[in-house]
Amino acid sequence: MNLCFHDYHPQSDDLRRWTLTGLAASPKQLPPKFFYDATGSRLFAQIVEQPEYYLPAIERGIFETHGDDIIHRLGLDGCILIEPGAGCGIKVRFLLDRARPAMYVPMDISAAHLRQSASGLATDYPWLPIHAICVDHTKPFELPSEIPNERRVFFYPGSSLGNFDPPEAIRFLGDLSRKAGPRGRLLIGIDTKKPAAVLNRAYNDAAGATAAFNLNLLRRLRQELGADLELGSFHHYAFYNERLGRIEMHLVSRRDQRVRIDDTEFVFTTGESIHTENSYKYAPSEFQRLAWEAGWNAEQVWLDPREYFSIHLLKVSHQTD
Ligand code: AVI
Repeated sequence: MNLCFHDYHPQSDDLRRWTLTGLAASPKQLPPKFFYDATGSRLFAQIVEQPEYYLPAIERGIFETHGDDIIHRLGLDGCILIEPGAGCGIKVRFLLDRARPAMYVPMDISAAHLRQSASGLATDYPWLPIHAICVDHTKPFELPSEIPNERRVFFYPGSSLGNFDPPEAIRFLGDLSRKAGPRGRLLIGIDTKKPAAVLNRAYNDAAGATAAFNLNLLRRLRQELGADLELGSFHHYAFYNERLGRIEMHLVSRRDQRVRIDDTEFVFTTGESIHTENSYKYAPSEFQRLAWEAGWNAEQVWLDPREYFSIHLLKVSHQTD
């Protein structure tokens, strides 16, 4: 099998430390990275199936409509295709069915997911050398020396960039532009700004998948940190903050209450929230400006007819520090 596994043994972040700091802050907050334990990943898989959560279907539609142009402009044949946060490795199949990169480099923090998806790809695309890297791609790291540093193409679909605050997004994109090198390219999916009603529905689906995903954080605090909180004493709240151009997700306390973790007691008043996630939405020109600050030049953007989602092709323009 044409598959090599590089394990950087990423440390899982410390939920206790982040929670004690985040609940002591004002306003209270928890980082979204803690959504994705086994239950949270299962719940996220349900979110992407919800009719209100338009992102995956529209992104797929853009790939289907503009696939030939995307493949042609990307010039993927002979390139080193690198996918941070590759997960189950489904979206990349669209590219691998139409082009022949010289190597595929999926990265994921979960060794189990990565081994499973990379071996499935190695079976289905026997001509493709695969170097799978188990790493937290949001933190600084060096690619292994076996990955040639010419003609690197990064693939980052799904609008995951939206979960970074803009300065972090610039830092992350800057890291990709440095890793991509002078002839590097980036193909990235970005959710756009659109009517608030559409966005609010997407993060408040009728089946309650997003609410369950958000509330799962509280279950983790109970089970893993022994927090003495009642799950029903908080509710899911997500809304589009038009001024900041982002969906905000919160867990809102239904009553005045105290929550104890270890020796620390956290006081909640009725209606007070824990801010759990931001999901930034960018107009194409706004995203292109952000990417430019990180060393990327816009080459092409593809949109669906309603302009609900965008896929951008960028090339490295200059190196940032
Ligand atoms: C992973 N990320 C792109 C999702 C988003 O839309 O920001 C996470 C999510 N949160 C609630 N629903 C989906």
